[in-house]
Amino acid sequence: MSAAQQKQAAAEAALELVESGMTLGLGSGSTAELFVKALGEMLKSGELSDIQGVPTSKATADLALDVGVPLIPVDHVQRIDLTVDGADEVDGQFRLIKGGGACLLREKIIANASDLMAVIVDETKLVRELGAFPLPVEVDPFAFTITAKKVFDALRASGVKSPDVTLRRRGDGTEPLLTDGGNYILDCACERIPDPEDAAERLANIPGVVEHGLFIGLARLLIVGDDDGAKVMEV
Ligand code: A5P
Repeated sequence: MSAAQQKQAAAEAALELVESGMTLGLGSGSTAELFVKALGEMLKSGELSDIQGVPTSKATADLALDVGVPLIPVDHVQRIDLTVDGADEVDGQFRLIKGGGACLLREKIIANASDLMAVIVDETKLVRELGAFPLPVEVDPFAFTITAKKVFDALRASGVKSPDVTLRRRGDGTEPLLTDGGNYILDCACERIPDPEDAAERLANIPGVVEHGLFIGLARLLIVGDDDGAKVMEV
């Protein structure tokens, strides 16, 4: 199966976790979008009802409304039963790198507020060790060059040999990319992150870092699309 078919299989398998009446965190990125579309189909056919979605990005909110998934304003949310989201990398302990789509802050807030986070990926996202995918770090635009140096130092101190920290720019390369929250993203090429917990703690302690893309202890279910369909794994 192609990666696209594997993503579709994982997204459809995640639907089996959904029950009518649930409040659902809706992740961002191409895999999460497949889940939102499939959810819209289930609502249209009447197989599911009374779902309230909590989107993690403007793009997901737009898509959800487009395909008929009702949304609840995030400030009215009391609890979230389940969040389904993609990832850029997943290791054997279900530690994730997220933020390739620049939505990591909202994704982490919603995942952290959920009773259960299920991650849906194709098998190319599974890694033995995190770090081949550049780690996104969301920072306040104010003094971002100072923050970038602190991010470099923190990654070095946590054992990353030669971190390469670059400001993410918009498609045309001119202006810095702005997240939905108006922040910048620093992409940190690490090759390998030998101690993700330590790196996460060091990054979180830097003034100016709004959030980092290491998701540790959040994902409890992993749904991987592979050539046989989708495998569900529990941490
Ligand atoms: C969005 O910021 C990311 O965290 C996405 O979840 C991640 O980039 C996975 O995206 P795809 O499903 O498109 O690979």
